[in-house]
Amino acid sequence: MCGIVGYVGTQQAAPILLEGLSRLEYRGYDSAGVCVEQNGVLKVEKAKGRLQNLIAKTENGALLPGTLGIGHTRWATHGEPNDTNSHPHVSQNGKIAVVHNGIIENYLELREFLQQKGVQFASQTDTEVVAQLMEYCMGLPEVETVSDALYMVLHRIEGAYALGILCSDDPDHVYAARKDAPLLIGFGEGENFIASDVTALVKYTRDVVYMDDGEVAVLGRDGVQVYNAMELPIEKEHHHIDWEISAAEKGGYEHFMLKEIMEEPEALRRAILPRIKDGAVVFDGLMLDSSCYDCIKIIACGSSYHVGMVGKYNLEKLTRMPVEVILASEFRYCSPIVNERTLAIIISQSGETLDTMAALREAKSLGARILSIVNVVGSSIARESDDVLYTWAGPEIAVATTKAYSTQMAVLDLLAVYLAAQRNTISAEEANRLTAAIAALPAQVEQILSSREQIQYYASQYFNHDSVFFIGRNLDYALGMEGSLKLKEISYIHSEAYASGELKHGTISLIEPGTLVIALGTYGPLFDKAMSNVIEVKARGASVLALTTENRREALSSRVDGILTIPETELPLLPLLGVVPLQLFAYYVALQRGCDIDKPRNLAKSVPAGVFYGSTRFRLPGRIRFSLRMLSECGMMKKTEKGVFL
Ligand code: AGP
Repeated sequence: MCGIVGYVGTQQAAPILLEGLSRLEYRGYDSAGVCVEQNGVLKVEKAKGRLQNLIAKTENGALLPGTLGIGHTRWATHGEPNDTNSHPHVSQNGKIAVVHNGIIENYLELREFLQQKGVQFASQTDTEVVAQLMEYCMGLPEVETVSDALYMVLHRIEGAYALGILCSDDPDHVYAARKDAPLLIGFGEGENFIASDVTALVKYTRDVVYMDDGEVAVLGRDGVQVYNAMELPIEKEHHHIDWEISAAEKGGYEHFMLKEIMEEPEALRRAILPRIKDGAVVFDGLMLDSSCYDCIKIIACGSSYHVGMVGKYNLEKLTRMPVEVILASEFRYCSPIVNERTLAIIISQSGETLDTMAALREAKSLGARILSIVNVVGSSIARESDDVLYTWAGPEIAVATTKAYSTQMAVLDLLAVYLAAQRNTISAEEANRLTAAIAALPAQVEQILSSREQIQYYASQYFNHDSVFFIGRNLDYALGMEGSLKLKEISYIHSEAYASGELKHGTISLIEPGTLVIALGTYGPLFDKAMSNVIEVKARGASVLALTTENRREALSSRVDGILTIPETELPLLPLLGVVPLQLFAYYVALQRGCDIDKPRNLAKSVPAGVFYGSTRFRLPGRIRFSLRMLSECGMMKKTEKGVFL
């Protein structure tokens, strides 16, 4: 996902922009660029590939003097990754520079309109349309200010955007606008910032404001003014970032992924301990009466969806409420049966995944109550939910999620116990036992981490396999889904997860001598059945690496080629412990294979949707209603079968 940084102040902008961009590298990108204003001229440098190329090209920004600028890491959507298509995009007369995160859906129509007016485009991107349209609007006789032009552009573009804009005629301000893509403002002393993500700013300021959809911000050296969609100045709530910059640095580890796995005990303590008081689960501020709901829909993508799979087993078992777990990307298209008696649990690390966001809005529009489990404080999903349970895992930089996954699951486990206790579907004794077991999880994860050499050993044995199958039943099946995703996303080994009982319905034909099967047998009640599947695949020559609990090691040792174990815990909590060896296994396999672990190919940390959702128009600001006539006159008014509308 693209990253944006903007700066206005008294320091040299370029080094700050480059530093900020380096903090956004984890989001995924394939080119980078910066633009700095110098004596009324906008100077741009771009480089394909790693940010390091841009840093070298600009001598760490020294070749771009100036105290006002914008920077961008681009994840190519429209047009291949190259210097021309990289941001910032500059308008034809060189006076407007734009960085953009999102997709302008009607860019072809606008491009055609501008080409008819004689505008020559340099790139194939949707973003360049914004720069050229800004220039066009600035040239209209009734436009007096950059803001006027910006509102006019926002009114005309359709899609999702976070925008950072410079205009050389106004060398004291950075302009910003947001709709369905994250953007925040950082406040400093005599300097102010914009960024897609707080990690880019935390070195400079901890005082931030999250922009909302439809808002425009004008940042100067001495202050920032935010306007709503009606162009009215508004006051925004300030948030204080309380984590240290070291949380977003590697801290001596070779990779963020390993650092974040090692941080899991601490992250789990933050997620769990404040929510247990006097042996019972409490969620401060949560007023949730589960008798108001007939069912639960868990909605998420990727690993967060896998947390939801575990949640389905546990919530149904403990609360006796029907639970459906649905991929966010499918939710809008499956005619979901949702109404005001539905509790929708939305799970997202980033809080910005657009498919998840779109599903949230759909569920909300159908009347569901939205409870989200989110890591990034102040993110879009958190802000649009009725209730938020933060995971407090701290910044997660590696693309492959680890500590966020574990803390999401811990919060969902706590929620399951909380709801079950409320509904009297478990006894007080069982609630106490489960709560105590949840509180013990951080120390048990520490125990698993302390024996990671053994996992590293197995990774060295199996790293050169081309194809791996994860098999398990019930909670072990859900766990296998995550183990398989972790392995494939960072090591590029083809991997599948199956419910063991499904093997004989087709998949077993793929098992041949030497195939690696990772057999998950942590779930005691189905251990014997898991064993029978191990025997089946062994009989066909598979190499089997098993994961089980400590007291079952003996029962397995003669039947498999390798064993990993986790400590004993209550049944619903097994996947939270079981995932840790699987995360480490994937990490060490990828390390052996020399993969780019923190930034796997083709993947971004936060995934925007390709298709825009929700209302497609920016509302017309009251103060520039004159633009109605002007837009019509200059042919920018959109015509439909039903007439002309804005
Ligand atoms: C897993 O390692 C991935 N990072 C990915 O599957 C991720 O869980 C998914 O994209 C959802 O992201 P979110 O939790 O930020 O919404």
